[in-house]
Amino acid sequence: DGDVFKYYCEGEWKKSASGKSVAIINPTTRKTQYKVQACTQEEVNKVMEIAKAAQKSWAKTPLWKRAELLHKAAAILKEHKAPIAECLVKEIAKPAKDAVTEVVRSGDLISYTAEEGVRILGEGKFLVSDSFPGNERTKYCLTSKQNTDRNSHFIHVPGVQIPLGVILAIPPFNYPVNLAVSKIGPALIAGNSLVLKPPTQGAVAALHMVHCFHLAGFPKGLISCVTGKGSEIGDFLTMHPGVNCISFTGGDTGVAISKKAGMVPLQMELGGKDACIVLEDADLDLAAGNIVKGGFSYSGQRCTAVKVVLVMESVADTLVEKIKAKVAKLTVGPPEDNCDITPVVSESSANFIEGLVMDAKQKDATFCQPYKREGNLIWPLLLDNVRPDMRIAWEEPFGPVLPVIHINSVEEGIHHCNASNFGLQYALRLINSTQLQGCVFTKDINKAILISDAMETGTVQINSAPARGPDHFPFQGLKDSGIGSQGITNSINMMTKVKTTVINLP
Ligand code: G3H
Repeated sequence: DGDVFKYYCEGEWKKSASGKSVAIINPTTRKTQYKVQACTQEEVNKVMEIAKAAQKSWAKTPLWKRAELLHKAAAILKEHKAPIAECLVKEIAKPAKDAVTEVVRSGDLISYTAEEGVRILGEGKFLVSDSFPGNERTKYCLTSKQNTDRNSHFIHVPGVQIPLGVILAIPPFNYPVNLAVSKIGPALIAGNSLVLKPPTQGAVAALHMVHCFHLAGFPKGLISCVTGKGSEIGDFLTMHPGVNCISFTGGDTGVAISKKAGMVPLQMELGGKDACIVLEDADLDLAAGNIVKGGFSYSGQRCTAVKVVLVMESVADTLVEKIKAKVAKLTVGPPEDNCDITPVVSESSANFIEGLVMDAKQKDATFCQPYKREGNLIWPLLLDNVRPDMRIAWEEPFGPVLPVIHINSVEEGIHHCNASNFGLQYALRLINSTQLQGCVFTKDINKAILISDAMETGTVQINSAPARGPDHFPFQGLKDSGIGSQGITNSINMMTKVKTTVINLP
């Protein structure tokens, strides 16, 4: 049945034996756009078995060869940017221009990963024992980052940083291509095999991306892509004994995964209530521009979106006016027209956002624009004079709604950001106070650095909106926002395990 996109296993495109499919709803039309296979648990078992076997020989493949294939995949991906971007527009309502950027950025990420892998996995360390108290120079310790195989004719490194085995990659709907390759590239260059479970919205873009790896000529079974219902294969995948590492980006599901996963390394990037602190001496035009870009690009559906503005009372009104003027210029409509604000990913997401807005309305937040919604399309909304008893002060809308809270001191802003200054009444909300990134606007660099140190967040941007990129920068969330650190180098290291060989001298 030609209407259902096949899943990828053993280097081939296959139909699921289930005979069932999962529908992908276009967020703009709210009609079924594509269908993908609803894979079964038996098919997951098969994929795991094949991935394990493929990894063994891949680990013996020379680094330069792994890098060469990755460079090839990157080039093919960029060549296919148009059809992949079209899927992103239809599946997740990403503005057309941003969709192309996502694919190109992904190609660059793969190439950089290949180069970085060759550099860092090609290095080794040599330690001698007499640098530690009480030891003579009787031991040499060898560690390198390249895989070894005593039967192999080309690698003779006695100490190693070995691949983990099979990596399970689960990217989110908002970057189904970019946040897939940020896991696939590091996994493969480090000698692992990879099983991809794409999000339902974005699955077809991900399948097209996988096809680029297929065309590049990677060994059969090294990469697999299974699609299906979370209820059928979600837990089955994440708790599968064949999985040696999970790299996940998404929402609360990540917390559940981390509780269920066994003794495997986890890399988690979850949500966050990224705060933007604006001081009295800030360049308010710069701040307003970044707040609008940070809060509203891709309709606020980024884990790094500005999700709460904490502004000093004395400049709050001026800042809000400047933000309002810029919000008024945002275009609203379909992603095909490259509008700034496009429909949010699903009806349930739109309903959730609306719930936060209604709560704020009931509690008398100032609406800088009238609330407007048509289907999944929500007009950009700035809520001023938000107070801590409103849900929007703490919860992540993942939509085009941005709360502004007035503060009277830097400490108050930091306390809100770290959610440590609110009574027991709000204690339950601490879980939502997690931060991936934060930002601070001030001309005083010393102050900025002190605030950065005080904010309990993975990254603080000084005088700019939060953003993950450039993709080789370390990227991490604290508390419930994540486990481990990403960025190309960190991901490569995370997907390997150190092993050393010690030579004992007589
Ligand atoms: O949604 C989470 C992404 O990691 C954010 O990436 O800052 O490039 O939009 P971005």
